[in-house]
Amino acid sequence: MSKFVFRILIIITFSFSSSYAQQNYSYNSICNISDKTGPSPDFLYTCNQTTPSCKSFLMFRTQSPYLSVSSISNLTSSDPSELARINNISVSSVFPSGKDVIIPVTCSCSGQYYQANTTYVCTSVDIYFTIAKDTYQSLTTCNALMRENLYSEFDLYEGLELKVPLRCACPSQKQIGNGTKFMFTYLVTRNDTVTKISERFSVNPTNVAIANGFPDLDPILYPYTTLLIPLSKEPLTSQMRSFNQSVPPRKHKRLFYKEIYAGIGTGAALAILCFVLFLGFLYYYKKRKNEACSKIKGLKMQYPKNFLDEVVLLGEVLKIYTYNEVEVATDNFSQRKRVSNSVYRGVLRGKLSVIKKVSTDVSKVIKILGKINHFNLISLYGVCEHDGVFYLVYEFCEEGSLKKWLQNTNSPHAQSWSHRVLIALDIANGLDYLHNFTSPAYVHKDINSSNILLNRDLRAKIANFSLAREDKNSHTSCVVGEKGYVAPEYIKTGKVTPKADVYAFGVILLELLTGKEAVFIRDGEEVILSESVTSVINGGDEINDLIDPRLHIKNPLGYIMDHSELATRLLKLSLSCLIQEPENRFSMVEVVSALMKIQSDVHNSQSFSLG
Ligand SMILES: *[C@@H]1O[C@H](CO)[C@@H](O)[C@H](O)[C@H]1NC(C)=O
Ligand SMILES: *[C@@H]1O[C@H](CO)[C@@H](O)[C@H](O)[C@H]1NC(C)=O
Ligand SMILES: *[C@@H]1O[C@H](CO)[C@@H](O)[C@H](O)[C@H]1NC(C)=O
Ligand SMILES: *[C@@H]1O[C@H](CO)[C@@H](O)[C@H](O)[C@H]1NC(C)=O
Ligand SMILES: *[C@@H]1O[C@H](CO)[C@@H](O)[C@H](O)[C@H]1NC(C)=O
Ligand SMILES: *[C@@H]1O[C@H](CO)[C@@H](O)[C@H](O)[C@H]1NC(C)=O
Ligand SMILES: *[C@@H]1O[C@H](CO)[C@@H](O)[C@H](O)[C@H]1NC(C)=O
Ligand SMILES: *[C@@H]1O[C@H](CO)[C@@H](O)[C@H](O)[C@H]1NC(C)=O
Ligand SMILES: *[C@@H]1O[C@H](CO)[C@@H](O)[C@H](O)[C@H]1NC(C)=O
Repeated sequence: MSKFVFRILIIITFSFSSSYAQQNYSYNSICNISDKTGPSPDFLYTCNQTTPSCKSFLMFRTQSPYLSVSSISNLTSSDPSELARINNISVSSVFPSGKDVIIPVTCSCSGQYYQANTTYVCTSVDIYFTIAKDTYQSLTTCNALMRENLYSEFDLYEGLELKVPLRCACPSQKQIGNGTKFMFTYLVTRNDTVTKISERFSVNPTNVAIANGFPDLDPILYPYTTLLIPLSKEPLTSQMRSFNQSVPPRKHKRLFYKEIYAGIGTGAALAILCFVLFLGFLYYYKKRKNEACSKIKGLKMQYPKNFLDEVVLLGEVLKIYTYNEVEVATDNFSQRKRVSNSVYRGVLRGKLSVIKKVSTDVSKVIKILGKINHFNLISLYGVCEHDGVFYLVYEFCEEGSLKKWLQNTNSPHAQSWSHRVLIALDIANGLDYLHNFTSPAYVHKDINSSNILLNRDLRAKIANFSLAREDKNSHTSCVVGEKGYVAPEYIKTGKVTPKADVYAFGVILLELLTGKEAVFIRDGEEVILSESVTSVINGGDEINDLIDPRLHIKNPLGYIMDHSELATRLLKLSLSCLIQEPENRFSMVEVVSALMKIQSDVHNSQSFSLG
């Protein structure tokens, strides 16, 4: 386990090569890792003796029972009158809950780390993890707490006084030269970006990026982490925000963590490892070549046992299920509940779900699906881990895959043009979102009709994000993807761009139009659908011969819209997606707009024919 953690650390350490970084952003506080190989930002901000001590400020979000000036100053060992002054409030005042307040502290370099010392008296439910994450809101880390206090996780008892080092830092000589007087330890909240934060504090975003060792201005930030903001003057109350109590009350939250510990049943091994660090790990690891290849070959990655504990950090997004829940939902993985190979269906916490058993890398899928949310992208409800095997719990799509639906000659509605156009539009919308509205942008890389799922209302959802990757002009030396869908430039150069998804979408559009598979057998020979269609067009065959026979139904009210015209428009659109040169190929935005026009014409013609 620790070997793996070191590997991640090494990779992350090597990835940040900006030599002038003052401090390095920590994706999170991992518990029970070692800093024997050198100081790690996953403990606290590092220091050397150049600036031994300074005044600095921390951010704290008021939450019961820490609402009054006295209780907050007691918790953080800060001077109450100074705290009251900087927050423009009287010493006897009480803050509303969910308000960001400024904590003035003295930050000093003790050994390898900057810290502001305080103490905390344990309650009966405390563990290091909850003290760091809940009580101190990540102003300290589980690691640093364990390092500073010699008690093990199980030796904490009510009334025990713990030393708590708070995360703080002093400006470097360079920053001082740039006019920085104070370093403000800022709590990252959901939806925060470096640009937005910098704007609020009227500081240059480049300086914020440099202060936190970011390679660019648009890094991924995670809740429950801290950023350093270099300030030229004291922080102002006007720069602080208030949040409504969306956070469940403290007591509840603690129970939740306890429940997870109990649920996962890891017994003695309560090491809490950082899931978000995995994200960081993947983020950099994926840049390495052959990443997709090793995944395809099924190279099993070694996971630290308790990585699921850290999914908690995405807690608002993802649920953690116990193995028992999964067993109950799937009737002990009975045949009856089986959908396919290692996929089962069952009701989990009241929701009909699909449970996918995976023994390979799931962190990327979690990273992507935990962050995005779109009607046309499959929802990941949560995760369960048991004996090194992961169970991903997804929304259930009653009608199964588009491929199956098209093959099933008895599918009701299969003869309807409007359903097929709607399916195409759904997929296009999902891809458009993935390409243009997520940050960072993603390429799915494995769009094919098996990876499109249909719900009860025949609305399409894109699934299977195991090959998805960020759109970063990257190349792979190993081409992956389903035969018949892979874009020519990807085969030739290994270049991955959103246009590869557009190409695959063009093939799906042909499948919707022809009812044939992307690769099918004709006269005992394998035929690639996209090639066969192109040759049909060039050979001047009738477009009607191409159309899925199921779409040739005779409408008793007579056709208003000629189907061959509709078919021609869809065919033209798919050919625009199948253009060999990616730069001439349509973008997903163009596809969506073309399909919307087609859909509105289909709709008009239908209502007209019925009216
Ligand atoms: C941040 O990471 C860089 C690159 O690995 C390293 O050279 C530097 O010392 C680190 N800075 C701190 C303050 O840990
Ligand atoms: C401050 O904390 C100490 C324990 O560390 C406690 O005994 C004392 O009552 C607290 N004071 C206030 C005002 O909360
Ligand atoms: C402090 O609060 C008072 C009102 O309570 C307000 O008039 C004053 O402008 C505030 N000062 C600052 C610096 O925000
Ligand atoms: C803070 O605590 C550390 C470790 O307990 C100690 O070495 C250091 O001197 C303390 N700093 C101050 C300013 O008290
Ligand atoms: C201490 O850090 C500063 C920058 O923060 C650097 O210029 C200096 O060389 C470092 N000193 C040592 C002894 O590492
Ligand atoms: C983050 O953004 C989403 C949608 O963009 C919004 O629903 C959510 O409330 C935001 N969260 C916060 C904490 O602002
Ligand atoms: C100082 O500021 C300038 C511009 O604002 C920036 O380019 C430079 O990197 C900054 N230096 C540090 C150490 O933040
Ligand atoms: C936030 O809190 C205010 C006052 O406490 C309330 O009026 C408002 O409706 C709340 N907003 C939300 C979204 O809960
Ligand atoms: C921390 O990890 C070490 C081995 O790396 C292990 O012996 C120890 O029990 C762990 N401590 C806790 C509290 O899990």
